[in-house]
Amino acid sequence: MTDRIRLTGVTKDFVVKGVASRALDSIDLTVSAGEIYGLIGRSGAGKSTLLRMINALERPTSGTVLVDGVDVGALGADELRRLRHSIGMVFQQFSLWNSRTVFGNIATPLRLAGWSNDAIRDRVAELLDFVGLGGKAFARPRQLSGGQKQRVGIARAIATRPSILLADEATSALDPQTTTDIVDLLRSVNQEFGITIVVVTHEMDVVSRLADRLSILSDGRVVETGEIHQVLARPQHPVSASLVGSYTRTVLTGTEQAALATAYPGRHISVFVDEKVAADPVISRLARANDVDFTVVQGGVARVKNQPYGQLSLALHGSETDIDRFVTQLSEEAEVTTW
Ligand SMILES: Nc1ncnc2c1ncn2[C@@H]1O[C@H](COP(=O)(O)OP(=O)(O)OP(=O)(O)O)[C@@H](O)[C@H]1O
Ligand SMILES: [Mg+2]
Repeated sequence: MTDRIRLTGVTKDFVVKGVASRALDSIDLTVSAGEIYGLIGRSGAGKSTLLRMINALERPTSGTVLVDGVDVGALGADELRRLRHSIGMVFQQFSLWNSRTVFGNIATPLRLAGWSNDAIRDRVAELLDFVGLGGKAFARPRQLSGGQKQRVGIARAIATRPSILLADEATSALDPQTTTDIVDLLRSVNQEFGITIVVVTHEMDVVSRLADRLSILSDGRVVETGEIHQVLARPQHPVSASLVGSYTRTVLTGTEQAALATAYPGRHISVFVDEKVAADPVISRLARANDVDFTVVQGGVARVKNQPYGQLSLALHGSETDIDRFVTQLSEEAEVTTW
């Protein structure tokens, strides 16, 4: 796949009252054409700053940002305007123009791009249909629900047929059901129009339902990058583990392990559940063969992009030697940690 976005060594310092603080530190990151890429991290991690680098709303202090091979930090005013037509953006607070109708909001970027009135009329009708707001062309933003406002925001962002959509906490102001609807809409924007999407969020749930790959940001640095499955199943960095853990509640902290060990004395293991472990009854088969019993003391299995992942924590019952043999054999077929 070709690179749509490539950041190399991007550092951003903000100087406030003569004091520089580093918002981004040596970021390397590549987004392929047509993928949905997640950027996740806690508040202040630098997610919005990174996103704003892509359409040159922020310029790097050092390093380069390439969009389709072009260094966006070096663009003049005209080229910058063209770049921004090829990159749509949606926001947490929707940022609609309240004095304009829904039609007016969606038509504005088309007018700025020089479309004719007839072409604008057809395009807006098509977009309203696509986002499911066919009857709302002449409503004002204040007459719409949050989910409807975000649909308008998305229609406006993709109006000029951009190749990239940047979504900054696009679902953070919405309830869970509306979040699901907007997640579905963003996925169809990607699938129907082939638009590359970068989603910034602090919600692992949103990323796990949308993204192909993600990077985890902490204190202005990328601490981990990977396929969504890989990061959810085996987070490598403590910040990733805490984001994943608070999402799934299946990866146990040391404190949780200690509490469970007191409640269920004996030997304990945690088993990663992936496609293989979900498809094959390996845990029960080996437990039976080795005369070991187990109770599930905590855990969960979810489906991410239609594949299972999760973790089960078990308290084991049986003789020491039987348990040893069971754990050894299970470790050959699944990822097991003992605690
Ligand atoms: N224009 C600015 N001037 C000075 N400091 C800034 C500016 N924009 C961002 N920062 C600082 O850069 C850091 C990263 O901010 P950023 O908004 O990118 O974080 P974020 O991950 O998007 O956080 P949130 O989840 O709260 O939106 C913060 O310490 C912030 O205070
Ligand atoms: Mg932000």
